[in-house]
Amino acid sequence: IQDLLSEPTLAGRRVLITAGGTREPLDPVRFLGNRSSGRQGVALAQAARDAGAQVTLIATHLEVPAPHGVALVHASSALELREAVFAHAEGQDALIMNAAVADFRPASIEGSKIKKRDEHSAPVIELVRNPDILAEVVSARGANDRLPPVVVGFAAETGDEQGTVLDYGKAKLARKGCELLVVNEVGANLTFGTDSNTIQVLFADGKPAVSAAGSKIEVARVVIEQLAAEINGHTA
Ligand code: CTP
Ligand code: CA
Repeated sequence: IQDLLSEPTLAGRRVLITAGGTREPLDPVRFLGNRSSGRQGVALAQAARDAGAQVTLIATHLEVPAPHGVALVHASSALELREAVFAHAEGQDALIMNAAVADFRPASIEGSKIKKRDEHSAPVIELVRNPDILAEVVSARGANDRLPPVVVGFAAETGDEQGTVLDYGKAKLARKGCELLVVNEVGANLTFGTDSNTIQVLFADGKPAVSAAGSKIEVARVVIEQLAAEINGHTA
């Protein structure tokens, strides 16, 4: 009988985590990237490992080292990340999509370095949409019950005249169809590349949101604790 006061644990559970920021190739030497450092994803991998989970970390571009004690997989672009996620998702108890996935990629990758051809002209880069990996996993579950029953999304949001960070988070949770959405407020000096974070964990099942603030590892522990409760709820 589990002690009701004990912390939920991930012992014997398998958790797949994506971290960092994708790089979308433009030519052999250039890419379009983003400012994700991978710190929050690495902290999530540590916290899940410390909670007893068997962790697979799919690392895109990270500015920090990957933690010990996790299985590490590399992917660079959004298309590679999608391949890696689908290659590793079956049999996982949860997928945490923490990677900052580029919404767009260059429509074509030049085979050789783009050169300045004359004195003044500059190329126009055409972009196309990337697949929404999280939404694809959620919808693929309908035909494949080996895909993770719990999917966690992350959303960096800014509030504006049209709505608060929480309003945007709730709308995104509904749109994405995942079980949990971790929303954090971003701005010029918030979140990217720093060691602290303020988040709210939103639940698709209508459970009240849980807030947390602190270092990325402290925040990660709160997310993992909520994830453990969700996973244990799914198998109870
Ligand atoms: N995500 C994904 N594939 C994409 C884009 C996003 O899997 N092509 C995942 C992210 O890893 C994250 C969640 O979706 O867990 C939310 O990402 P976000 O960029 O906030 O959502 P978008 O639907 O891309 O909306 P926006 O237009 O606000 O960027
Ligand atoms: Ca996006």
